[in-house]
Amino acid sequence: MEFSDVENDLAEILLTEEEIHAKIEELARAIEADHQGEKILLVGVLRGAVMVMADLARALKVDIEMDWMAVSSYGAGTQSSGVVRILKDLDSDLTGRRVLIVEDIIDSGLTLSWLRANLESRGAKTVEICALLRKPDALKVEVDVTYIGFDIPNKFVVGYGLDYAEQYRNLRGVAVLAPHVYE
Ligand code: XMP
Ligand code: MG
Repeated sequence: MEFSDVENDLAEILLTEEEIHAKIEELARAIEADHQGEKILLVGVLRGAVMVMADLARALKVDIEMDWMAVSSYGAGTQSSGVVRILKDLDSDLTGRRVLIVEDIIDSGLTLSWLRANLESRGAKTVEICALLRKPDALKVEVDVTYIGFDIPNKFVVGYGLDYAEQYRNLRGVAVLAPHVYE
């Protein structure tokens, strides 16, 4: 769906579909250059990363594999606690693999720093991170992200896989959610 289909729910448009696609092409070229001759295992983090994964995987001009994980932070509320529970684990053996975690957004960084350590402990050769969005002002732990799309303000955003109460994931671009929607 387009911004205009839900315009009353949005406070500010941040990224159009075109801007996102251009950035993903850029990221794909960088990833190809860094992994010549080595097969990459893309690990998508459900559910937010579905759109990034679908577009990044198709933008890459090399053969890749895809696998998926679903995780959830313990604790109630909207704040990440850093304690992560695996809801759906990978099907792949990571031994010796070059793993690239594909994420929609880095907020506090707690989820990804846990996830990277977890995947590294399974014997992967490398575990790198590609995230479309990052909120620098929300970071609680430094996360070494190899491929980053856009730094955005510390506001709640939806679209391109990101949801509020499972809505707006199918919005083509990324926008700041209007406060009246969740207040
Ligand atoms: P941490 O804080 O561990 O968490 O980096 C990252 C996860 O939090 C969710 N998240 C958001 N989801 N709009 C969303 O729809 C946002 O602005 C937002 N900020 C964080 C998301 O699931 C991400 O994987
Ligand atoms: Mg997510």
